[in-house]
Order: sequence, then C-alpha cells, then structure tokens
Amino acid sequence: MAGIAGEAHVLVAAGDLAAYAKDWTRDLVHAPSAVVKPRTTEEVSRLLAFCDGRRIPVTPQGGRTGMSGGALAVHGGVALSVERMNAILEIDEGNFVAVAEAGVVTQTLQEAVEEKGLFYPPDPSSRGSCLIGGNVAENAGGPHSAKYGVTGKWVLGLEAVFADGRVTVTGGKTRKDVAGYDLTALLVGSEGTLAVVTKAWLRLIAKPVAWATVFAPFPSLAAAAQAVFEIHRRRLVPSACELIDRPSVQVSSKAKGIGVPFPAAEARILLDFDGGSEDEVERDVTAAGEILLTCGALDVALATDETKRRGLWDVRRGIAEAIHDLGVSVELDVAVPRSELVPLVEGVRRIAERAGLHPFCYGHAADGNLHVRLLREGHGALETSRFDEAVKGIYSEAVHLGGTITGEHGVGLILKDLLPLRRDAAFLAAMRAVKQALDPNGILNPGKVLPGQTVRQVQNQG
Ligand code: MLT
Ligand code: ZN
Repeated sequence: MAGIAGEAHVLVAAGDLAAYAKDWTRDLVHAPSAVVKPRTTEEVSRLLAFCDGRRIPVTPQGGRTGMSGGALAVHGGVALSVERMNAILEIDEGNFVAVAEAGVVTQTLQEAVEEKGLFYPPDPSSRGSCLIGGNVAENAGGPHSAKYGVTGKWVLGLEAVFADGRVTVTGGKTRKDVAGYDLTALLVGSEGTLAVVTKAWLRLIAKPVAWATVFAPFPSLAAAAQAVFEIHRRRLVPSACELIDRPSVQVSSKAKGIGVPFPAAEARILLDFDGGSEDEVERDVTAAGEILLTCGALDVALATDETKRRGLWDVRRGIAEAIHDLGVSVELDVAVPRSELVPLVEGVRRIAERAGLHPFCYGHAADGNLHVRLLREGHGALETSRFDEAVKGIYSEAVHLGGTITGEHGVGLILKDLLPLRRDAAFLAAMRAVKQALDPNGILNPGKVLPGQTVRQVQNQG
C-alpha cells in the first residue's frame, strides 16, 4: 500500500491508528489495521483494486464526525481517509457550481463560495471539521435544511470509485441530465458501502443579502412544536427552525459560558430568516413574531446583530458536545412529518418518563427531525433492558407516526439491525441486490447499513 499512496501516508502504529478508531459516537472504538491517505483518485482506484483482490475490508473515512458509527473499521482492514484530497477545484460563478474534492472541510467550502457572493447551504453542526465526501456519503442535514434541504439536494454529480477500482463520473455542471439511472442519488447516502466518493459537483445559489434570528421561549415543548407547525401552515419558510428543550439549553449554555434569556423556559425555538432584501426579512420576522405569540410564546426576541445571533447559535450547535461531556449517551435521530411533531415529543416524554429517564430533546423542527439523547450512566445492568426498551419504543413511535428511525445521522453501525422497522422486505432485498452488484466481494464498509451483514464473505488479510 505504501507503493500506492507513499510510505508517509500509510499508518500502522497503534498510536497513529487511535484517532481513526473513533467518531462522534465517542464510546465506540474500532481500530483499523492500517490507515491509508491517498492524494488522487488514481491512488484510490489502485488501493481499492489491491484490497478487492485480497478481500481486505476498506472503510472510507471523512472527518469522522458521524453519529452512527458509519466510518468505524469494525472488521479491521484499511481505513481509507480522504483528508488529503482537499482541494476546491473550481468555483464556477457563471454556472453556480463548485467542484470540490472529497476531503474539503464543509465550512471551508462555504466560506470560499460566500466570498464570491454565492451560497452552499448544507450546514451540519460539525461543519468546521466534517468533509464534503462524508456529507455526501451520509446525505448530511443540518439547521438550514429547513429551507434548503439536505446535502443530496445540492449534488449535481460525483466522481466515485467502485470496489474493484473502476472510476465513474455520475454528473457534472449540467442542471438537467436524465441519461440513465440516477447513480448520483444512489451513491448519496450510501454510507461508503457502494463506492468511495472522490469528487463532487455542488450546486450553489446567490448568497442571501439579509438575515435575522428570532428567538422565542415557550412554557412547554409541545407548545413550541405546535408553533413550528403553525409558522409553516401560515406559509412562512424559515431558513432554520430549531426546537430546543430546557435541559439541552442549560447544559450547552453552561459549557459555553453563554447566558441565554429565559433560562427557566421549558422549551425554545430558534428561527433564522434570510432573503433577498432587508424588507423581505423584516416582513417575515414580523409575521413570525405575531404567530409565535399567538401560539403561547413567553416572549419573542429578534437578533439582527451578528454577535447576538452567533451567541444563540453557538449554544444550539454546542448541545451535542456538551451532552457528550456528561457521560455515555444514546442519541436517537428520529424524524416524522412536521404535522406529527407534537405527538412525537409527547410520545418521547411518555416513554422516557415510564422508564425513569430524563431525555434531552432538540433538533431541526421544520424537518420534523428530533434528536433525543438519553444518558446511559446511572442506569445499572438491571435497568439495561428497561433502557433499551425505551429506546426501541421511541423508534417505533416515530415509525408509527409515519416517520423514520434516522433523519440525518444515517444507519451506519448502530441502527442496522433496526432498519427493518422502517424498510420492508422488498426494499431490503433491493438494497442487497445493489450491494452485490457493485461490491460483490463485500469489501466496502462491511458490517454497516444492511441488517445482519457481516464480513464473513471477506477474509481479512490486512
Ligand atoms: C446537531 O443537530 O447538533 C447534530 O446533528 C449533532 C447532534 O445530533 O447532536
Ligand atoms: Zn442535527
């Protein structure tokens, strides 16, 4: 492998592998036998052909900020890190397209396009360290998917390498292209199990000229969730719309040392509006304020000032990290139709209370996407089954409400055995057929996404 990527870019010492053994699930640790960091697509291609011939498992890795264990080398072998493939190859201002290698940090791309008056909206909370290739593999979301949709909506084409080393390009700068199957859509969200993404053509839009953040505390999570529905029913489209409960705000504002107004409020909504003019944004903000008050908001505050906006968002974006520092937790990433958000939050409370658990609830409410964190600590072995039952109960509740077991974090390792809760037998059979066709030796990210899939078909000779 040193002959492919260069000796300096193949790590095998235990100390060097440690960082590549973890992701943002934190408590899961799976070290690969080697980390290889190719610089070019040709090197990726040669590496995959080499591994495929020898049945060596290959786990593609981006920024390792995933929350479902998707980038962990559960069967050893090679962790293929795209971190050195980090060039922004082009920002095409006429066509509104950016071409980026898989290892570009999402925020770096956003800042580069914004300098040119353009905008790339997908903004996972980890945007300062996650990579475009990982965002594509996970079809990552984030607060701004409320208005702009998840990563997949912005991908015009991909360069990707199949398990046997063949390279394909699935699209490019053209906005319309219906020639053949939509392989771009198939690879987006395939969690590194079908191909390794090496390059992406990403759609851009003109950068909005005005922004404002509205903040509203509520006496209950259900009232806040109802207000989110009402905002949309009244035809307002915030660019971000976050629902946050009191425990989540408390833990993050404490960790960040940032005070928030109405700290005792049971819930709050954080809304961003953007638009092509100050007037347009002001109109939306005024209308939203009136709706929020009608829905029982304790107050409505506006932040147009950048420092204040940043403070509110820092508290929101810091929640995951702050809860993590409290101890090992299980995070659920359920999503339901927006209209079912109230029954979902009520169901979560009911199930958690019955099990004696105190959930942290926050998330991207406009998408019906709720993150529910349950601390494992303090619940001894005897209580494990009660804990697991509560977790399963919440997943089932989301599916029962017409929703799904994961809105943005992916199936990865932690949810693969629950996939049948959401997908029927024909769907799962189609997934297996696609996997078999594109990766017959099963070397790509084995042990992920597909229920029961193991590396048995792969001899680890790494
Ligand atoms: C977020 O929304 O902050 C991220 O998805 C991370 C998390 O769910 O905790
Ligand atoms: Zn999220």
